[in-house]
This record gives sequence, structure tokens and C-alpha cells, in this order.
Amino acid sequence: MASTTAALHPDVESILVSEAAIRQRVQELGRELKRLYGDDEITVIAIMNGAILFTADLLRQVDNAVRLDCIRTSSYGSATESHGTPKMVHGLTLDITGRHVLILDDILDTGKTLSLITSMIRGLNPASIRVCVLLDKKGRRQVPFEADLVGFEIPDKFVVGYGLDFAERYRNLNYIGVLRPKT
Ligand code: IMP
Ligand code: MG
Repeated sequence: MASTTAALHPDVESILVSEAAIRQRVQELGRELKRLYGDDEITVIAIMNGAILFTADLLRQVDNAVRLDCIRTSSYGSATESHGTPKMVHGLTLDITGRHVLILDDILDTGKTLSLITSMIRGLNPASIRVCVLLDKKGRRQVPFEADLVGFEIPDKFVVGYGLDFAERYRNLNYIGVLRPKT
């Protein structure tokens, strides 16, 4: 059998959150969701592409009835700095009026994306809105925004893996790593 411990990607400087730590925290978040929602149905809105791995793992930790929709925004292109206002590229397909909406994202950074999305969702009159992010770079906020559930608070470093990309690469790493600065 091949080892399950993957070698560190050469473009990654260090591991910030290991695969085991992610797995354990995702299980805890699943239990917190159960406590918050009881037996209610949850309408999950995952923000693509970054939230795709987190969503897949977290949803398997809850046994509630779940409806899943995905939306897409863009603001990064291939830079490591957000430029300007995020744009909604792909909107909702499910009706969320009167539903318990749970928004999932990979990382809360400046707060622009999630404040735009939550205000858009609020306008559609859901029964409730909660936001759960895997990572929170608290020190980077440009607009005030707090998530209801946070996997890990991390320092102001550009990270990749477990859904997070740089120029669409590295999403498939099974850990969160700090990208090595280009020399
Ligand atoms: P915000 O609007 O600045 O909060 O940006 C949120 C989005 O920026 C996230 O959903 C990510 O797609 C992206 N992002 C922010 N920080 C990082 C990072 O360190 N690595 C990869 N993507 C990031
Ligand atoms: Mg994203």
C-alpha cells in the first residue's frame, strides 16, 4: 500500500492546517450545525469553487435534510490580492424564501464577498441566514463581517489547498499550505 501521507508540494512553503486537523474540525463543525439546526432542513449555499471540498466533507457530517445550491463570484483573477468589488457570476437556482440558509465559503478575508452575498440572500427573505467558513483571516477585514462558525483563524498569509487556489491550481491538496513566494 502506498503511504497516505502525501509529500509536501514543492510550491508550498509550509503546512498551516494538516489533513488530520481539517478532518477533526470538520467533524466538530458538523456537530455544531446539528446543535444549531436541530432537525430542521438546511438550504446550503456553497460559494464556488473554493468551498467545494469543505462543502463535500461538511455535508457528510450532518444527517439533516439538506438542499444544496452553488453560487460563484469573482474578484481575484490570478493575483493573490483581491481587486475591487466581487461580482456575482452565477446566481441561485433554488427558491430560498422561508428557508434556513447556511452559506459556506472557504475563507473570509476582506469580507467583501460574504457581505455582498449575505445582503443579496437577505433580500430573498429566508427564515434564517448563517455563515460558516473554514478559514478566517481576521486581520484583513475591509468591511465589518463575522461568520457564525469558523473552522480556523489564520494569520495574514496567502494559503492554498483543500479547495483554495492560486490561479486555479492547488485546490486538490489535502492540507492548507502557505504558498512559497516566487523567486
Ligand atoms: P474576500 O471577499 O476578500 O473576503 O475574499 C474571499 C475570497 O477570496 C475567498 O472566497 C477566496 O476565494 C479568496 N481568498 C482570500 N484569501 C485567500 C487565500 O489566502 N488563498 C486563496 N484564496 C483566497
Ligand atoms: Mg472563494
